[in-house]
Amino acid sequence: MMGGPELIDATLEGLVVPSFTRIGFEARRRLFGWQNLDSYRLGGRVVAITGATSGLGRAAAERLAGNGATVIAVGRNPDKTARVAAEIRELTGSPDVSATVADMGDLSSVRRAAEQILREHQRLDVLIHNAGALTPTRVEAPDGTETTIASQVVGPFLLTSLLLDRLQESAPARVITMSSGGMYGAELTIEHLEMSSDLYNGTKQYALAKRAQVTLNEMWAQRVGKQSVVFQAVHPGWADTPGVQESLPTFRRIVGPLLRDTEAGADTMVWLASDDNEPLSCTGRFWLDRRVRSIHRLRSTRRSDTPARREDLWSWVTERAGCNPRT
Ligand SMILES: NC(=O)c1ccc[n+]([C@@H]2O[C@H](COP(=O)([O-])OP(=O)(O)OC[C@H]3O[C@@H](n4cnc5c(N)ncnc54)[C@H](OP(=O)(O)O)[C@@H]3O)[C@@H](O)[C@H]2O)c1
Repeated sequence: MMGGPELIDATLEGLVVPSFTRIGFEARRRLFGWQNLDSYRLGGRVVAITGATSGLGRAAAERLAGNGATVIAVGRNPDKTARVAAEIRELTGSPDVSATVADMGDLSSVRRAAEQILREHQRLDVLIHNAGALTPTRVEAPDGTETTIASQVVGPFLLTSLLLDRLQESAPARVITMSSGGMYGAELTIEHLEMSSDLYNGTKQYALAKRAQVTLNEMWAQRVGKQSVVFQAVHPGWADTPGVQESLPTFRRIVGPLLRDTEAGADTMVWLASDDNEPLSCTGRFWLDRRVRSIHRLRSTRRSDTPARREDLWSWVTERAGCNPRT
């Protein structure tokens, strides 16, 4: 039977707004007596995080470096990435924060970044796919793939594939993917994964990418033993970041003071990278506020999520990424 805290959590989970805003975060933090993130000691742990130059990724990189992890800050803009890495070194007093350049939508850039990481780091304990954006008009990546899908599905898939051996050598390792509650409204599709120019809608395209992310998270977990690497996906609730300020100004005006701050938005991602108990004891899960959540809320999306479609997604992404990971 569900006890008091579980019941309150489940009630919150059923109500989107209280769950996703700072109300849900604060309630769950108190209800479950969370360990403070600044109490984790991460010396010797090497963490690569994409989208480290802004918002949630930057907040996570700061916390992880502050706790002693060696942080590889991955960003698409060389100057900004170098500047942010220097700022994090200055702020945390840790010398172990480096910059690696990768536009996650550009496969050759992803390959160069993987080579650099493998050259410079003998171990890799955590890979965090956090980079993401909602792109209002349709843009194509260098290989012709729609850019939301290229940067949040294909690029991360390639990076995981290229770093998988190093992660396995560093076992127990983790791959964490920052998805979004926006994916709850999106069905799993391969035929319509990249929206055509005439139908393009940035919010819908983003949700389709995030649905593919959580699906691939489960598929990686089925293929790679959890003794070597666990795969976890997470959604941050709604947090006030430069990304939200730029892409969703009306939403930000309405939800306003209820938005989480960046530390709260990054909390579960950092916890999944830091805690050696629950996050390592299972794989292929989807998390919000340090608890496992379902990847479906709607019958229509559940129906779309068939084994055949999953296999098609895996074939599609291996072909598009030009790799076939040895799992
Ligand atoms: N904030 C929320 O409420 C919320 C809710 C659900 C999910 N999320 C997810 O959380 C993650 C972080 O978002 P955020 O809110 O922190 O947004 P943000 O402040 O805009 O940060 C996004 C980060 O991703 C990087 N990025 C975007 N496209 C990239 C590409 N093609 N290659 C490499 N890096 C790229 C950005 O780099 P630049 O600094 O160069 O722009 C930036 O570092 C995203 O995956 C987002 O979908 C956020």
